[in-house]
Amino acid sequence: MKSSSSSSGVLRKGRLSTYLYTLLAFIVLVAIIHGEYFVCSFRRLEPPRTSRVTSPTPVLVGLGLVKKREDYKLPFAVGEGEEGCDIFSGRWVRDELTRPPYEESECPYIQPQLTCQEHGRPDTEYQKWRWQPHGCDLPSFNATLMLESLRGKRMMFVGDSLNRGQYVSIICLLHRLIPQHRKSMETYNNDALTVFRAKDYNATIEFYWAPFLLESNSDNAVVHRISDRIVRKGSINKHGKHWKGVDILVFNTYLWWVTGQDMKILKGSFEDEEKEIMQLSTEDAYRMAMKSMLKWVTRNMNRTKTRVFFTSMSPTHSKGDWGGEPGGNCYNQTTLIEDPNYWGTNSRKSIMKVIGEEFGKSKFPITFLNITQLSSYRKDAHTSIYKKQWNPLTSEQLANPASYADCTHWCLPGLQDTWNELLFAKLFYPNSS
Ligand SMILES: *[C@@H]1O[C@H](CO)[C@@H](O)[C@H](O)[C@H]1NC(C)=O
Ligand SMILES: *[C@@H]1O[C@H](CO)[C@@H](O)[C@H](O)[C@H]1NC(C)=O
Ligand SMILES: *[C@@H]1O[C@H](CO)[C@@H](O)[C@H](O)[C@H]1NC(C)=O
Ligand SMILES: *[C@@H]1O[C@H](CO)[C@@H](O)[C@H](O)[C@H]1NC(C)=O
Ligand SMILES: *[C@@H]1O[C@H](CO)[C@@H](O)[C@H](O)[C@H]1NC(C)=O
Repeated sequence: MKSSSSSSGVLRKGRLSTYLYTLLAFIVLVAIIHGEYFVCSFRRLEPPRTSRVTSPTPVLVGLGLVKKREDYKLPFAVGEGEEGCDIFSGRWVRDELTRPPYEESECPYIQPQLTCQEHGRPDTEYQKWRWQPHGCDLPSFNATLMLESLRGKRMMFVGDSLNRGQYVSIICLLHRLIPQHRKSMETYNNDALTVFRAKDYNATIEFYWAPFLLESNSDNAVVHRISDRIVRKGSINKHGKHWKGVDILVFNTYLWWVTGQDMKILKGSFEDEEKEIMQLSTEDAYRMAMKSMLKWVTRNMNRTKTRVFFTSMSPTHSKGDWGGEPGGNCYNQTTLIEDPNYWGTNSRKSIMKVIGEEFGKSKFPITFLNITQLSSYRKDAHTSIYKKQWNPLTSEQLANPASYADCTHWCLPGLQDTWNELLFAKLFYPNSS
């Protein structure tokens, strides 16, 4: 990434006209009067960087106050992202030189639900794509830098099975640097917590199962396929107490909220005999969870030392809505969707709007990994039928493989390695776009 860019956004360029200054002064005043936290727009979630202060221009951040940029260096940053480059906007390019970043067979941590080659996938084309942002290049993933930065620290992924896939991917990207007997992976609390240890670094990379982030009746990490899902309002501390003291948190939650019906929200506790349950639309229920998460982060994370990421919705390809065969899904798909405007049906857009609105109000700078659209082009990258099957398949299923294809999860190596390259870019080279 270019290191000469000193700032991003008009506010920081010191070129504002008097008119704009007046307008800004007014906005600050309004913000102070209302005692509200002021964030210019979602794209400026991350506070401006500190390293290259070229002018004494004060910038508008937090609390409606005008503060100097120096106060807001993001932890872990070693440089800046290229000014104005949205790394989530780009295209996939074939790259047989650098892809895949590791072989499936050399990473023993991949769970059998994601080892597609081992389960007979005939092609490896899905492993050979690299994400190329339109406006700049991604920094290459530097495992040494990542491990050194994690020395004495904890990194934790919190969420559902999609986040577990991203978790395993980052371990696969890092573990080669660590000799066999200096690393380990263990599970705790009935598998709710998985801990990878890099002993010489005194570092852990952990995964915590909480598909709704809040307490729910699907919290058992092994037996959780519950169709009548119930989420308990205001219960984030139930899981959150296990996240305290973590230095880098990576959240996700989405798929479990999308049931095609209203969500059932429990007001009391799961132990109550008479349960008080209200029904909320997916969007309202999701908003409730985002508010709880942001409140928890603001109360429990220290912005001068820790970072919080949120990975956006992972798309599924279970209907041929990309112009493929009607009723077709990801089964037997080996090519990418080429329409750059492809987004897919279902609730992704309305949930994206909720995220934008709630994160825009956040008092803690959350780094958003906006992987939804770039992943939606990748109908080729799902595990499909090439994964461990927990139950024996019936003859009907075997006769029609598309009927049991998994079009939710992703083969490793594969798409999720790119999510971690984007995480790497935002961790070490953040900017405000
Ligand atoms: C990776 O990071 C390490 C530690 O910061 C640094 O010494 C090394 O030069 C980097 N490697 C590359 C290829 O940039
Ligand atoms: C190891 O890291 C933990 C934080 O994860 C820290 O509390 C502890 O002091 C570290 N121990 C050593 C010996 O550095
Ligand atoms: C956050 O960490 C900094 C640096 O260690 C420390 O000075 C500050 O007191 C901490 N803030 C809170 C609220 O714990
Ligand atoms: C898979 O797709 C190819 C075309 O891309 C087609 O020729 C073939 O019949 C399909 N195979 C199955 C089993 O559907
Ligand atoms: C994420 O990216 C998509 C385009 O890829 C955009 O439409 C959407 O607004 C972005 N979401 C947020 C919250 O910035």
